[in-house]
Amino acid sequence: MKQKAYFTVEDLVVDYGGVRAIDGIRLALDKGEIRGLIGPNGAGKSTFIDAVTGRRLPTAGRVTLGGEDITRLSIIARRDRGLSRSFQRTSIFADMPVLEQVFLASHQARAEHPEEDALAILKELDLEAYADWRAGDLGYGQQRRLDLALALVGSPSVLLLDEPMAGLTVTESRDLAEHLKRLARERRVTVLLVEHDMEIVFGISDRVTVIELGKPLAEGTPDEVRANPKVREAYLGSAA
Ligand SMILES: Nc1ncnc2c1ncn2[C@@H]1O[C@H](COP(=O)(O)OP(=O)(O)O)[C@@H](O)[C@H]1O
Ligand SMILES: [Mg+2]
Repeated sequence: MKQKAYFTVEDLVVDYGGVRAIDGIRLALDKGEIRGLIGPNGAGKSTFIDAVTGRRLPTAGRVTLGGEDITRLSIIARRDRGLSRSFQRTSIFADMPVLEQVFLASHQARAEHPEEDALAILKELDLEAYADWRAGDLGYGQQRRLDLALALVGSPSVLLLDEPMAGLTVTESRDLAEHLKRLARERRVTVLLVEHDMEIVFGISDRVTVIELGKPLAEGTPDEVRANPKVREAYLGSAA
C-alpha cells in the first residue's frame, strides 16, 4: 500500500450561507512536491486555501498534515505545525521598513532566530539591498517577492500561495517562479500554487489539479493536464 501523503485534503466542502463554493475536493501532496491548483475565476481556489489554513471552517471534510488531523485547529495552531500562506492581494504594510516587516513575521511564526531567519530570506529573494526601504517604495515585483518572504519565514513545511504572480510582468513572473522553485527545493517545502498564468503553472509544478465550480475536474502531470480534453474545453479554451 502506498504510504499516506504528507499533506492531504479529503472531500472538502465549504459553504457561504446557501452557496456551495467547494464541493468535494481532495488532494494528496507528497513532501517537497510543487502542486499547481488551477480553475476559472470563481472556481473556489481562494476559498479552498482559506478553509485549509483555518480562515474559514469547512462544512465537511478533513485536512491532515504529517498524519495529524488539523481540520479544526486555529490559524495559529496550523502555522505552528508548519502551514503558511500568501494572499491573493499583497499583505505588506506599506509604511514599515522591509527588514522590520520580515523580522516581525518571523517572530510571529516563532522562528528560533527571527533576525537571522529574516535576513536569510531577504537574501534568498534578492531583497537584501532594500532592507531599510519603506515597503511601499519597492517596485511591485519586489513587493510580491516580499509577500513570498513573509510566507516563508519560520521555515514552513507547507506553503499555500494564492496568485503570487498577479499583476507582474512576464519577466517578473518568471523571476518569481524561479525563486520559488529554488527555495521550495532547497528547503523541501511542499507548495500548493494557485496561479492563472498557465506557462508558469505547467513549468513549475510536479502535478496539477484543476477545479471548476468547486468540483474536481482533472489531475495529473502538467503534460497530462494540458492534453486533457475536459480541461481544454473548460479552462484553456482555444488558447491551448
Ligand atoms: N465571502 C464570500 N461570501 C459569499 N460568497 C463568496 C465569498 N467569497 C467567495 N464567494 C463565492 O465563492 C465562489 C468561489 O470564490 P473564490 O474562492 O474566490 O474563487 P477563485 O479564487 O477560484 O476565483 C465564487 O462563486 C464566489 O463568488
Ligand atoms: Mg481567488
